[in-house]
Amino acid sequence: MIENNETVQSLKERELFQLSEDAQKEWGQIESELFAPKFQSDEEKELFLKECFEGKRKFPWHAQGQSIKVTDTKLVNAVIPAGGIGILGGTGTGRPDYETEMNVTESGDKIPSKTVRIEIGQNRNKEAILKEIEAVRKEHPYAILGVNVLYAIGDFEEIVRAIGDQGMVDVLYVGAGAPYDLSKIMEKYPQMRYMAIVSSAQAVRLLEDTGERCKSKGTRRPDGYVYEDKIAAGHNAIINPRKDKSAADHIREMQAETSKPIIFAGGVKYQEDVQKALLPKEYGGLGVNGVGLGTRVTITDECPIPNETLKDIHLNSAIPVVRREKFSPTGLPSTGKINEKEFWDKVEELKNSTKRRCNDCLIKPEARKNYPELAHCKFISVKPEDADYQFCIGPFLDAAIRGEPWAIYFMSVINEKDPIYLDKNGEARVPTVSEMVGYIIRNEVPEWADKE
Ligand SMILES: Cc1cc2nc3c(=O)[nH]c(=O)nc-3n(C[C@H](O)[C@H](O)[C@H](O)COP(=O)(O)O)c2cc1C
Repeated sequence: MIENNETVQSLKERELFQLSEDAQKEWGQIESELFAPKFQSDEEKELFLKECFEGKRKFPWHAQGQSIKVTDTKLVNAVIPAGGIGILGGTGTGRPDYETEMNVTESGDKIPSKTVRIEIGQNRNKEAILKEIEAVRKEHPYAILGVNVLYAIGDFEEIVRAIGDQGMVDVLYVGAGAPYDLSKIMEKYPQMRYMAIVSSAQAVRLLEDTGERCKSKGTRRPDGYVYEDKIAAGHNAIINPRKDKSAADHIREMQAETSKPIIFAGGVKYQEDVQKALLPKEYGGLGVNGVGLGTRVTITDECPIPNETLKDIHLNSAIPVVRREKFSPTGLPSTGKINEKEFWDKVEELKNSTKRRCNDCLIKPEARKNYPELAHCKFISVKPEDADYQFCIGPFLDAAIRGEPWAIYFMSVINEKDPIYLDKNGEARVPTVSEMVGYIIRNEVPEWADKE
């Protein structure tokens, strides 16, 4: 039934990175820069951010933005005191509930009209993300705050403009596509920096292009890049890296293309991953400016996904992590876990009603005509040979925060037997954000953990 899938193998043995004495000293400095201080004013924060973007210091660790509703206010409010850059997931934040608001009776008489569905879907997203931003700002008025909005989404521009007008976000992160039209939109928001999430130097070249083709597109260019490795969780970038190139090859090519900061994300799980990414080249590192954590942040006590689900799915080695080429209506491959039976039963159950509940979340305005891959939802234009894939990923993703057994759980490969996930009795335990980041960056194992 499922084609083009690839079970992503478990982690190889940890490859310890042997540091020379000099490298160890350098790492000591870098490590201290990975935790943001508590800022007392906007000016102080701005000075700090300026230094980060000018490459004068490393960025604090990033909790990469995860939608739908995974990196929410509660999670970001835990990331900030743990010294990280909290990035709210800004895609589908206000999605209406499929089971109730978009519900369809046998006779179909409860379906809201398409106009209403679009209205509900899109307006709510905007309102919901603005509220989340406000809530974080109330707790942390001067912290560095980011929002991640997927370019592939239909209300992308509206959301970006709303966030820009609100003026509370420091850095916008844009994934799932090359955001050419942002150059123009972002002219209006000089206070908000933006980073494009890419997976190759080719994407950087396209986004930095100032040639004739781009003249009408505005003057701003990304302030930096997040390189997302192909083993990252969630939707993977559309300009896929060539399979024969390593992450290091891609990073080197990107560094040759731009002197702007680069954050490395995808498969960062241990201190040695962070060291390899951040140490300067003379010490065997890649010399990037920061690291982003996705899956590791998802498996924390403050994540909205219930702890029991994290134990039953994420920390259950019997359920494999799979990369699926044809799983998402965005047309992008994606990586994560599902309970096969429950998932396919739900696909079957929703088969006849999903289309009627559609709120056109991926339909692009005219501006997107240069980017046909994302111009429309693959679900709507489903081809007969893709009949098994007639489902909308939306309800399966937002079901994750409710811990539904049939949900899609985006994640990359972890070692479920890591001490950070086992208590002294060998039982699965979900760490807090602060414990998780202490484990990764400082190699600290919590008191309650099985240290053997
Ligand atoms: C549950 C989940 C949701 C995600 N949602 C998004 C998203 O909305 N936008 C995005 O650019 N990346 C998304 N990602 C990717 C992460 O932001 C991050 O780049 C990636 O997880 C890094 O790889 P790692 O999981 O191996 O650490 C998601 C990842 C997860 C696990």
